[in-house]
Amino acid sequence: MIKIENLQKSFDGHEVLKGVSFEVGKGEVFALVGGSGGGKSVLLKHVAGLMKPDRGSVTVDGKEIRGSGKKSLRIFRERLGFLFQGGALFDSLSVFENVAFPLKEKSKLGRNVIREKVMGELENVGLSGSEHRYPSQISGGMVKRAALARALVEDPEIMLFDEPTTGLDPVTGQSILKLIDSCHRRLSFTGIIVTHEIPKVFTIVDRVIMLHQGRVRLEGTPSDFLESRDPVIQAFLNG
Ligand SMILES: Nc1ncnc2c1ncn2[C@@H]1O[C@H](COP(=O)(O)OP(=O)(O)OP(=O)(O)O)[C@@H](O)[C@H]1O
Ligand SMILES: [Mg+2]
Repeated sequence: MIKIENLQKSFDGHEVLKGVSFEVGKGEVFALVGGSGGGKSVLLKHVAGLMKPDRGSVTVDGKEIRGSGKKSLRIFRERLGFLFQGGALFDSLSVFENVAFPLKEKSKLGRNVIREKVMGELENVGLSGSEHRYPSQISGGMVKRAALARALVEDPEIMLFDEPTTGLDPVTGQSILKLIDSCHRRLSFTGIIVTHEIPKVFTIVDRVIMLHQGRVRLEGTPSDFLESRDPVIQAFLNG
């Protein structure tokens, strides 16, 4: 479903992606791992059509994202949910208004339908009763849950998660991963999760991609990764 071919990207002469290729099949969930500053967020932004590659391509269902006009990019974005690194709720909007935002902006749904969808999504992420609170009035874990609800409210076919558990305590982090897993079972989206939660994330993903120095160092199952003899991967696993 998502095909990344020879993706290259530099910033001011600094090569971040040096030719990255891999494919994610429909309904699969991949973990994208690698050192800090290694280009994971940059890669995700290419998949979302938010950045243009210098070379190479990202295609979704056989259609290249870069060549798309504004209209087809918009249609593509409607099929996509993005959980940004940091959560990124609007501080001046309540939890309810945050989750309703994409529906109010992009859909022609009526108020009551939107309300029903938003309340249902808040229930799914365990935030019923907090819909009137503002981001500054809820915990970090609740912010992530609200951001997750906002990303899921449009029933995306593709979900991109950029470090969904960073900054949370281990128990809350684990509950977010479980939540992502249960959402995946319910909605069967195709997903990429950028994460440092190794090995925790391995219980909820099909495959792992490790980026190292701008290239894919390993693509395989979680056990391929954990059992790898590659010294770079062993060093990464040992922190
Ligand atoms: N818009 C941009 N302009 C210039 N340089 C950028 C831009 N976005 C990212 N970079 C650079 O690209 C490199 C990779 O950044 P990226 O955010 O993708 O890393 P990352 O793997 O997500 O790291 P982390 O695990 O810390 O989130 C960094 O050196 C960063 O400074
Ligand atoms: Mg990042």
